[in-house]
Amino acid sequence: MRKRGKNDAGVPLEGAPPTPSRGVPLEGAPATPTGISRRALFGGALASAAAGAAVGIVATGVAEQSAEAAEVAAASPNDSVVDFYGVHQAGIQTPPQDHLVLMVFDVTTASASELQVMLAKWSAAMAQYSKGVPVGAVEPDRDQAVPGDTGEAYGMGPNALTLTLGFAPSMFDSRFGWAKYKPAIFSDLPAFASDALTPEFTGGDICIQACAADPQVAYHAIRNLARMARTTATTRYTVQGFGRASAGQGQTTPRNLMGYKDGTRNIKTDDELDQFVWVGNESDQSWMVGGSYLVARKIHMLIETWDADYIADQHAVFGRTKAAGAPLTGTGEFDTPDFAAKGSDGALVIPANAHVALAAHENNGGVKILRRGYNFTDGIDSVGRLDAGLMFLSYQKDPAQFVSIQSRLGASDRLNEYIRHVGSGVFAVPPGLSGAGDYFGKALFA
Ligand code: HEM
Repeated sequence: MRKRGKNDAGVPLEGAPPTPSRGVPLEGAPATPTGISRRALFGGALASAAAGAAVGIVATGVAEQSAEAAEVAAASPNDSVVDFYGVHQAGIQTPPQDHLVLMVFDVTTASASELQVMLAKWSAAMAQYSKGVPVGAVEPDRDQAVPGDTGEAYGMGPNALTLTLGFAPSMFDSRFGWAKYKPAIFSDLPAFASDALTPEFTGGDICIQACAADPQVAYHAIRNLARMARTTATTRYTVQGFGRASAGQGQTTPRNLMGYKDGTRNIKTDDELDQFVWVGNESDQSWMVGGSYLVARKIHMLIETWDADYIADQHAVFGRTKAAGAPLTGTGEFDTPDFAAKGSDGALVIPANAHVALAAHENNGGVKILRRGYNFTDGIDSVGRLDAGLMFLSYQKDPAQFVSIQSRLGASDRLNEYIRHVGSGVFAVPPGLSGAGDYFGKALFA
């Protein structure tokens, strides 16, 4: 029999034990003392205190829940945990989990203080979700209480959940006083040849990439973060991805929806990550050191057209074979492509406009990016065609790396006949948080 104040998993109710007498609901802003206006409360130092309190509320919950967390995890089908805290955010170097939920938010408040409190609450909650622990009660013991946690991932375990947050260039406009913190290399992506972008899947202020071994666990985290932000940010778009269309350290190469192995020549070593992915001391903004830049491109595939194409042309489109994933100049997946090799007819074996010929670092001034995309489907479109493609995600230390590759691909990639870039975003992904009490954007409110 459990003590009163615990639900059936032993997770403290309301996620905020011990609850101060006036109540500090996790889902709302920290309690406003009587007689002090909300505006006054969230001004200056008090806002920092409120943000700190928001972290403390959740962090205290985590500390006090360690035994309960172990209990929940032990009972779960997948108890693998990826550390949320660290030098870099999780979900970048982390070998891609099978499922993605990407959510991009528009910040609706004009108050820097409210933004600060939201980021503090999110950060603390993300740490908790990464351990597979709900924030707030799934089943409150008061009949009139609204559940703090929506409950659909209850007891499922952490499932290697990672939550990765980034800020769009729009966050550095005049709204929140962040303009002075905008990295010189950071701005909206330029237009590329063959772009077919829609406002629906383009832009936004903040993105959160949730990846997990289970789709429901990823969705649960995103849903509850969106719920927590309800008065401060709204969802601009979301993409659910599956079948990780990229390979990380130690992983076999999966396939994208065109049937090709995707991720064969992805960045996989720590040296490459240091060289191409992690922002270093070269940055003009110290708050970005250890971070990275995320490019998100929703790429629609013209599946019916692709499925009617003959195999030799499919090979020529990518410059690789379908089953083995070998370069057309080799036989094994990991054979190094020979972009200069010519056949008996005198033509290049890997056509110059093949996808890999244009994207390869050998032909691109040595530039590499970390690809971490996912397959997606949105069912069928308005005229009954399959609506599916690649939610392309790449991490790089400078967005210019993506720009240089996509400039070449957008202009002449043979693949363009079969794809359309319909959404786009670029996000500054800060370094990882140091521990409880730290939160995303903390340095930007100084
Ligand atoms: C729907 C769109 C796309 C599909 C289906 C696709 C598919 C593929 C495939 C099958 C490969 C060969 C295997 C591999 O090395 O991973 C590849 C390689 C690559 N792709 Fe893509 N890709 C797409 C979009 C993009 C975009 C937008 C970029 C960057 C702007 C990009 C950059 C690369 C790079 C850098 C490589 C490695 C090339 C090499 O070193 O050989 N891809 N892609």
